[in-house]
Amino acid sequence: MTLPDAMRAVEITEPGAADVLAETSRPVPMPNHDQIVIRLAYAGVNRPDVAQRQGNYAPPPGASDLPGLEGAGEVVAVGSGVTAWAPGDRVCALLPGGGYAEYVACHQGHALPVPEGMSLQEAAALPETAFTVWSNVVMRGGLKAGERFLVHGGSSGIGTMAIQVATALGARVWATAGSAEKCAACETLGAVAINYRDADFVSVLRDAGGANLILDMVGGDYIARNLKSLDMDGRLVQIAFLQGPKAEINFAHLMMRRLTITGSTLRPQSDAAKTRIAEELRAHLWPLIAAGKIRILIDSEFDLRDAAAAHRRMESSDHIGKIVLKVAGG
Ligand SMILES: NC(=O)c1ccc[n+]([C@@H]2O[C@H](COP(=O)([O-])OP(=O)(O)OC[C@H]3O[C@@H](n4cnc5c(N)ncnc54)[C@H](OP(=O)(O)O)[C@@H]3O)[C@@H](O)[C@H]2O)c1
Repeated sequence: MTLPDAMRAVEITEPGAADVLAETSRPVPMPNHDQIVIRLAYAGVNRPDVAQRQGNYAPPPGASDLPGLEGAGEVVAVGSGVTAWAPGDRVCALLPGGGYAEYVACHQGHALPVPEGMSLQEAAALPETAFTVWSNVVMRGGLKAGERFLVHGGSSGIGTMAIQVATALGARVWATAGSAEKCAACETLGAVAINYRDADFVSVLRDAGGANLILDMVGGDYIARNLKSLDMDGRLVQIAFLQGPKAEINFAHLMMRRLTITGSTLRPQSDAAKTRIAEELRAHLWPLIAAGKIRILIDSEFDLRDAAAAHRRMESSDHIGKIVLKVAGG
């Protein structure tokens, strides 16, 4: 397949508000030894893209400076060492960056087949939340059937995936969200919703016996409150700090209830670590998707050239589920 030399992309012209995102033309990437090049149909928008645009989340060394951590489309070129994919395959992929573009290169181990019955639009919105939720809730957090699981930001891209994964694994799920509409969406997915504007999640979880696992993206004063909400041997997994990373906490809670605090970020992990997560997803999550137990909630779609509007939507926090960019045919 002959690829064009140049492609449409959206770049961050300087750190700042959404209007620093601008259309540009860039060379089409070529695959290195173990990479594939995907012609993207859609790209997912994630909160870390907003942090990158603001200058608070630099791409790891070697990654594209273009934003975009996930997408779906067709493989159009493969490196000499690629065994898993061939041109014409329909894939969705976790990207180290570069998703706001017509073509993107990624490691062969970070792509997965588009799940059967799923559109390319939905598949593009799957990898970032699937990798993050599976690696933090299952691999790191060790969630088991019958456990009580709490996720904050339940209506977010991450939250909507976490509720469904935990429910499918047989856990009892609680989710916090900031409006009645967001709470209703969390309930539809299988959670007991807690509107944090009029209820205290600590009391709700303590009345239920305490959480065994909490997935938190809020931080700030939630850190101490999370520790109060955990049952004996409970685990807190921190994946972001939307309200700040610093807190005063009482370590006696850790000692007396044998708690564990951990956390991770996905993007800087090694290619091998991401490949291992992808293998777990294929073995365990893809069958749940095929069985209809996990679906992608799409909040809205924007054309690639309107990426700034997509970011404004995300920053409004009015969205429920995922925001996607239509890349092909724009
Ligand atoms: N560690 C990792 O590897 C990793 C990977 C991907 C994403 N993340 C993080 O996970 C979080 C969710 O990502 P996402 O793409 O799913 O984002 P998202 O859809 O924009 O969700 C963020 C949600 O957090 C809630 N929230 C609570 N406090 C907030 C605050 N101070 N500012 C803004 N929102 C606040 C909002 O819901 P309410 O209105 O209900 O408060 C909002 O819907 C982000 O912080 C992201 O950076 C981490």
